Amino acid sequence: MEKLTVLAPAKVNLALDVVGVRPNGYHDLDMVMQALTLCERITLEKADTLRLTLPGSDLPADDSNIALKAARAFFQYTGLDAGVSITVEKNTPVQAGMGGGSADAAGVLFGLNELYADALARKLSMSELLALGDPLGADVPFALMGGTCRVQGIGNLLCALPPMPDCGMVVIMPEQGVSTPAAFKAFDAVESPWHPDVAGLDAALRKGDFAGVCAAAGNALEAVGSSPDTPAIKQALMESGAKTALMTGSGAAVFGLYSSLEEANQAAEQLRKTYSRVYVTAPLPSGPYVER
Ligand code: C5P
Repeated sequence: MEKLTVLAPAKVNLALDVVGVRPNGYHDLDMVMQALTLCERITLEKADTLRLTLPGSDLPADDSNIALKAARAFFQYTGLDAGVSITVEKNTPVQAGMGGGSADAAGVLFGLNELYADALARKLSMSELLALGDPLGADVPFALMGGTCRVQGIGNLLCALPPMPDCGMVVIMPEQGVSTPAAFKAFDAVESPWHPDVAGLDAALRKGDFAGVCAAAGNALEAVGSSPDTPAIKQALMESGAKTALMTGSGAAVFGLYSSLEEANQAAEQLRKTYSRVYVTAPLPSGPYVER
């Protein structure tokens, strides 16, 4: 095999709580993360050197890009004297809290493991991939695991949960993104922050209780670091029939949960009259996979 294409899911946080601050400034989190059918499309082709192209994206394709960092980590760990030409079709908005960069890193690690399995005469285990992904970014371990997970620590302690009940989602990206460090800094300045019921959400998922999931969903960063458009977007989502609406990650995207994909599609049709960046998606019960 010389070339393959990987679909690497974006995510939303069904819940995000901040439960502590570490001496290095990172935050201890308690979250439930959900992989989405909305995916980054990553094509990997064997090459002698490392190359990255991002068609249609303004992001720099230089050494700071997490997809290249992931490829470098893979070749360094495996000792393979090889390269890869990476093309990332970015379908996920940036500064959205949807883990698009983490999905790129996870997709590259997963894809290289497939592409170079023959040359290595084995595949790296999920534990090895997680260890390679961990230093690249706090959301990369979940981006590798996918599905539905309770995620704790700084994002590196994963516990798989039963799949999210069937539903549809509409995600709306405001005009302006939010920087993750700025969102956490804003949280640190609040004296009595609000905390969502993450344990309640975990319990609802274990019962397959969609109404319970909606009742417990919440994001501690929403009140402090979100974009000025968040309240209006939440209201618009609820008025369009969403059972709950909240910000994902450190923002700025806001999503609503609907009883079915059909309801989400109908709502999106209306919401597109007001908002330009509207995505319809659904829960995905896996992590990155090879496009067939
Ligand atoms: O690891 P990642 O690059 O995703 O994190 C971006 C920034 O978000 C960090 O530099 C830090 O300021 C903040 N962060 C945090 N606690 C976490 C994850 C991220 O404070 N658990």
